[in-house]
Amino acid sequence: LNLNNARYEITAVKPDQYPKNDIPEVTFVGRSNVGKSSLINAMLNRKNLARVAATPGKTRLINFYNIDDQLYFVDLPGYGFAKVSKSMKASWKDVIETYLSERKQLRKIFLLVDIRHSPTSDDILMHEWLKSMERSYVIVATKLDKVPRSKIKERISDIRSTLKLEEHIKIIPFSSETKQGRDELWEEIL
Ligand code: GTP
Ligand code: MG
Repeated sequence: LNLNNARYEITAVKPDQYPKNDIPEVTFVGRSNVGKSSLINAMLNRKNLARVAATPGKTRLINFYNIDDQLYFVDLPGYGFAKVSKSMKASWKDVIETYLSERKQLRKIFLLVDIRHSPTSDDILMHEWLKSMERSYVIVATKLDKVPRSKIKERISDIRSTLKLEEHIKIIPFSSETKQGRDELWEEIL
C-alpha cells in the first residue's frame, strides 16, 4: 500500500454518488471536532488532504480518500454539533446511517471519542446503533496528547464503562499531533 498514492477522490451524500468499484473501505465516525479529518491526515502523513475545519461542523458530506486504488478512507460528517437546525441534524443523521447500513464495501468502522471526556449521549447512541449492526468496529480515543500519562488508564476505563463496551472491543488511544497509536491503528486497518 503506497501512501504516496493517497488522494481525495469524491464527495458524496447519497449512495449513487459513492465510488463505483469494489475497493474495500474503512470509515471514521464521531462527534464534530473529535478529530476525524486530523486522524486521516496523520494516518496518511499529510497535512491538509482531509480538511480540518477551523469551525466545527464543517464536514457535512461524505469524503472518500483513495489510497493506492486499494483502500478507501471514508470521512463521515460529525454528529452532535449543537449550532445547527433540527432539519440539518436529521439530514446528517440520514447521511451517516445510510452509509453505515448500506455500504457493502465497508469492512470496519472506527468510532472516535475524545479521550479527555466521558462519551456524550450522542456517542452512546451511536455506539448502541453500531452494536446493533452486523459490522466490525473499534473505538479510537483521540487527542491523547492532551491528557497526562498518569491519567490515560483511568480515561480509557471510563470510556469503556460509559459506552458499556463488550470485552472484545478494542480502544486505541491516538494522537494526530504526536502520531501515537498510528502503528496500532494501521495494523487494525490492514
Ligand atoms: P468535523 O469535520 O467538524 O466533524 O470535525 P473532525 O472530527 O474532522 O475534527 P478535526 O480533525 O477537524 O479536528 C478538530 C480540532 O481538533 C482541530 O482544531 C484539530 O487541530 C484538533 N485536533 C484533532 N486531533 C487532535 C489531536 O490528536 N491532538 C490535538 N491536540 N488536537 C487535535
Ligand atoms: Mg472533519
